Amino acid sequence: MKNNFAAVGRLLESSKRLLFITGAGVSAESKIPTFRGATAAFADGMTEDGMPFEEVLSGTTFRANPTLAWKYLFKLEQSIRGKTPNAAHRVMAALQSPRRHVCVATQNIDGLHQQAGSRVVLELHGNIRRVICTRCQYSDYRETFEGMPPLPRCPRCDAMARPDVVLYEESLPVLVLESFVREQERGFDVVFSVGTTSLFPYVSQPIWSAARRGVPVVEINPERTVISSLANYRFAGPAGETLQQLMREMGT
Ligand code: OAD
Repeated sequence: MKNNFAAVGRLLESSKRLLFITGAGVSAESKIPTFRGATAAFADGMTEDGMPFEEVLSGTTFRANPTLAWKYLFKLEQSIRGKTPNAAHRVMAALQSPRRHVCVATQNIDGLHQQAGSRVVLELHGNIRRVICTRCQYSDYRETFEGMPPLPRCPRCDAMARPDVVLYEESLPVLVLESFVREQERGFDVVFSVGTTSLFPYVSQPIWSAARRGVPVVEINPERTVISSLANYRFAGPAGETLQQLMREMGT
C-alpha cells in the first residue's frame, strides 16, 4: 500500500488534467449520510412510510403525491444543512493549479465541492439548495429550507416549486452532460472514483473508457464496487485521509 501511495503521488504530481468522479462517500466525513452502505440514511433502503427511497424520491411520486416527496426532500436538505467541506473536498480543490485542470463530476447535491473552492464541478444530480419552479423555471438559491412552507410555491407564478435535483426516473441535466462529454473528449491523465458505488452507467462508463485507453484509474472506497476490478490503484480507506496522504506524497 505504501508503494501505491508513492506511485499515485507521482501520477498526481505530473498530471495536467485530472478527473474526480465523486459520490456520497466523499461527504460522509462531513457527517452527511450516504444512500447505501454502513452510513446510509435509509436503513434497508426503506423509508418510514414503508416505501423504498428510490420510490419516494421519484418523478412519479413528486407528480402524484408532492407532499410525500417534499417530506423526504426536506429530510435530505436537513441532513445537509450547515455541513461544511472535509479534507477530501479540500484536497481536490487544492490540486487545481495554473498547470493542472481538475474536473469534479459529482452525484452529490450538497454543493460542498464548490464551497471547498473547486471551480469545475459538474453536478450530475443537481443541487438541493437551488429551488426551481415546475412551470416557469424561475429559480432561487436558498441557504437553507428553514421557514419554507410544506409545499413551496413559485413567487412569480404560484406553481409548485421543487429543488433543482434529479429525481429517480428523470433525465440528467443536458448542459451538464454536454460539459462532461466535452471534458472527456479532451482526455485525462488520471481518473479517480471516490466514495461512490458507481451503480449508474454514466458514472461507471467514463471509468471503463479510461481503463480501455490505458489511463490510470484510482479508486478510493472502503468497500469494493462494480469498478474495483478496473482500478490500477485501490485505496480502502476513507476519502479525506487517503487524499491527504496522496497529496503529501506528491513531489517526494
Ligand atoms: P451510495 O450511498 O450508494 O454509496 C456510498 C459509497 O461511499 C459506498 O460505496 C461506500 O462504501 C462509500 N463510502 C462510505 N464512506 C466513505 C468514506 N469515508 N470515504 C470513501 N468512501 C466512502 O452513494 P453514491 O454511489 O454516491 O442518486 O450513490 C449515487 C446515487 O445514489 C446518489 O446520488 C443518489 C442515490 O440513488 C439520486 O438521488 C438520483
